[in-house]
Amino acid sequence: MLSNDELLRDLYARREEAHEGGGADRIAKQHEKGKLSARERIEILLDDGSFEELGMFVRHQTREFGLAENRPYGDGVVTGYGTIDGRLVYVFSQDFTVFGGSLGQAHADKIVKIMKLALENGAPIIGLNDSGGARIQEGVVSLGGYADIFLQNTMASGVVPQISAILGPCAGGAVYSPAITDFIFMVRASSYMFVTGPNVVKTVTQEDVSFEDLGGADTHASKSGVAHLAFNSEAECLQAIRELMSFLPLNCEEPPPQRPTEDPADRADTSLNDLVPSNPNKPYDMREVITRIVDDGRFLEIHTDYAPNILVGFARMDGSTVGIVANNPSVLAGCLDIDSSVKGARFVRFCDAFNIPLLVFEDVPGFMPGTDQEWRGIIRNGAKLLYAFCEATVPKITVITRKAYGGAYDVMNSKHIRGDLNFAWPTAEIAVMGPKGAVEIIYRRQIAAASDPKAEEERFTEEYRERFANPYVAAEYGYVDDVIEPAETRKRLIRGLQMLKNKAAKNPPRKHGNIPL
Ligand code: HXC
Repeated sequence: MLSNDELLRDLYARREEAHEGGGADRIAKQHEKGKLSARERIEILLDDGSFEELGMFVRHQTREFGLAENRPYGDGVVTGYGTIDGRLVYVFSQDFTVFGGSLGQAHADKIVKIMKLALENGAPIIGLNDSGGARIQEGVVSLGGYADIFLQNTMASGVVPQISAILGPCAGGAVYSPAITDFIFMVRASSYMFVTGPNVVKTVTQEDVSFEDLGGADTHASKSGVAHLAFNSEAECLQAIRELMSFLPLNCEEPPPQRPTEDPADRADTSLNDLVPSNPNKPYDMREVITRIVDDGRFLEIHTDYAPNILVGFARMDGSTVGIVANNPSVLAGCLDIDSSVKGARFVRFCDAFNIPLLVFEDVPGFMPGTDQEWRGIIRNGAKLLYAFCEATVPKITVITRKAYGGAYDVMNSKHIRGDLNFAWPTAEIAVMGPKGAVEIIYRRQIAAASDPKAEEERFTEEYRERFANPYVAAEYGYVDDVIEPAETRKRLIRGLQMLKNKAAKNPPRKHGNIPL
């Protein structure tokens, strides 16, 4: 019979064993690759000393392939809960030093357990992924384990925020758990995601491609849009998750957190009055508009390198979180294309699910024309953004800074699709299309018959511009609630957001809508 002291020593020895993971050599190997250990990552992510581990002594029950003699504590994943800025989050952190972080039954059960706790207790789930995928020795049981996780991801979707950091390999079907989550952050040169790796790609399609090019951080943050942001180091990535969390509520029943600011709510910025160039074809960066308006100039842009003709991200107005969706005239003139529509739609739906009011800054000449866009389905994909804005019931405010043309006028949170407040700057041009295109269509015959067709065209263009290329026709109809001085945008938006604070809009009861996926 062991004494109480001996029992305690035994406990601490077991804990130490669990903390060693795959051992000092394997941890050193992680460090050589520029990667941290599973526990080091948790330490950076969470508030100091806040982590409470669950399932430290879990071991697999597999007997095949000699695994009976190799049953490390934890089974390759560290799970538990802790706080970020004092707010509860649940975490799992895969340990590549144990079976390559591969996922078997026990490993999957640990993840599912904390996901269920997160769902029942209404707090976010943060997954730190670093895994060789399904544990080969456990066969179909590990595939089942993945499916158990996919199901929990889906059940948690829209109930609690789910954030994935990819900090090592993430291959095969394993990619689909992060893919269901709300945000994916990756690290350059040490993380990758793909359905099949470079070797299979070579066999099937004869393409030679590196891990990084096929599924590295920059590839997914810019080409595929699978990842939302790419970072140079794990520490930066984990700090960014902390910042992202500072904008989000813990669950769909809560309002987003407040962060007091010294930035005056009525701060005017006269530089905004001259920010839009008088030449309608001259680009400007909408980020400049956003950062001059939001609290302390801080805009946490998401999906920065993907479809940069639309900007999405989080900011605060008088201390309250807002989700921003903005056309960016400095890329493709701010046109809406397939990628930007899908990017915007997913962001709008996230904000709507988590009670985050939407601010829309609009300067859009229309949808992108061309066979490439039409054949790949700009109709189906553009409809996603339209649908997302239509169904959103959070407070929604639009500021038209310049162009609001054609279908894109309707889509970008117009009054007609339940925009609560729709403002325009005096530089706004709201019309079915730009003056040149319009005149060519409606005055084609008159121009052709004129003695000086060029002068006639210019006259018609000027006439059209005066009649339609301004915000006042829309304002006459009440489609624009007010034409505002750009310098006062911050004040007007903050007052609007306060006015809409208790908004309670509802959609008709149904099982679920059918967004055109
Ligand atoms: C069991 C695994 C493993 C796996 C790695 N290991 N992957 N053990 N199942 N899936 C073990 C290795 O045997 C090794 O153990 C240790 O982890 C480290 O692996 P290394 O190969 O030495 O590391 P590295 O050179 O960095 O290569 C990492 C790797 C490679 C690229 C991830 O291990 C690899 O290709 N693994 C297999 C990946 C894969 O095909 N997985 C299945 C994907 S399909 P020792 O003891 O030697 O240190 C999938 C389906 C999911 O996941 C389905 C969901 C529906």
